[in-house]
Amino acid sequence: MKKYLLAPGPTPIPPAVSGALAAPIMHHRMPEFAELFKGVLEDLKWLMMTKNDVITLAATASGAMDAAFSNFLWKGAKVITVSAGKFGERWSEIAQAYGMDLARLSVEWGKAVTIEQVDQAFKENPDAVAFFVTASETSTGVAHPIAAIGDYLRKNHPDVLFVVDAVTALGIFEIRTDDWGIDILVGGSQKGLMLPPGLAVMSISPKAWEFNKKSDLPRYYFDLAKEAKSHKKGQTAYTAAVSHIMGLRQTLDMFKAEGLDNIFRRFQAIAHGMRQAGRSMGLTLFAPDSPSPSITSYVAPDGLDGQAIVGKLKDRGITIAGGQAHLKGKIFRIGHMGYMDEGDMMVTLLNLEEVLTEMGFAVPAGAGVAGFVQGRAQYLKSH
Ligand SMILES: Cc1ncc(COP(=O)(O)O)c(C=O)c1O
Repeated sequence: MKKYLLAPGPTPIPPAVSGALAAPIMHHRMPEFAELFKGVLEDLKWLMMTKNDVITLAATASGAMDAAFSNFLWKGAKVITVSAGKFGERWSEIAQAYGMDLARLSVEWGKAVTIEQVDQAFKENPDAVAFFVTASETSTGVAHPIAAIGDYLRKNHPDVLFVVDAVTALGIFEIRTDDWGIDILVGGSQKGLMLPPGLAVMSISPKAWEFNKKSDLPRYYFDLAKEAKSHKKGQTAYTAAVSHIMGLRQTLDMFKAEGLDNIFRRFQAIAHGMRQAGRSMGLTLFAPDSPSPSITSYVAPDGLDGQAIVGKLKDRGITIAGGQAHLKGKIFRIGHMGYMDEGDMMVTLLNLEEVLTEMGFAVPAGAGVAGFVQGRAQYLKSH
């Protein structure tokens, strides 16, 4: 059976990237690796839209999230985290693990944080030194207003450290790190970057390095100042994840050939298609107000178990994701990021139409696919 992976991460890997990953291992202390790595770091800056330092870590993205606390803050520091899903909540959990004075800005799952809520959180916590948010909340399919938050912080709290989880945004939709004043941006390999899990990327601003000087939390492996020093020489502090770096070279070449604007437009068009597909099938979108361009989440129709929908698609070779935490069984999520294309979406929608119909929620054959084509075309026509 042909397999389709449409989960919001990990994502499928293009054959050219698989080829790069299978290349003979390079020694990480030799000049050929340093040359490769320096080029990768330069192009990562391009992808992250920044002139700031960029660091890679042999870890999943959560390792970089952890390092964003342990390298820049101190015990008892007042931090605000936007908790609007599983990954926003991860910021809160790490803050607690490091003994921060946590101000959790809780937002209903499925909704995006508003600037009014952000402003209120700062009014209640005028001593906050850092603000943590998720660009694309994978658990709900919501995109938070990162540009607007950056603008608000620049005008009102310019000394606050602005930290953004871009794990399901990087390489999928626009995150202007420098223009939006993002001090620390975190990404992971297994989403838009079209690589296996296991590599995290981060960008770190000069302001963040000032915080680093004041930070006294214990750290060893995730010592970013040490990593930055090694990176400047085209090295890593410990053994580099050489295969991931070779794969990333290939990915970045593909991104550069297509161009960032074209990539963003392509995924936005797919996302618009997936939303229209849902509406045309009679499904309710879980995050209609501020949907992420990388994930669409649908509410399971009344009386149907979201997990059963996921299971039935899995039986047909198609992997999507169910809901997490209290949303388990209530929603299901389809990823559109990385090496996923329009054809993958249409195959999934055709099968979804049949599965829903089988389960008693009748969908006219082709309704989802027609909606997809229409929604995508409409976006492309106007952008
Ligand atoms: C938005 C977001 N943040 C953080 C993570 C955690 O990444 P990892 O599992 O690579 O540690 C994920 C993974 O799904 C994610 O989607």
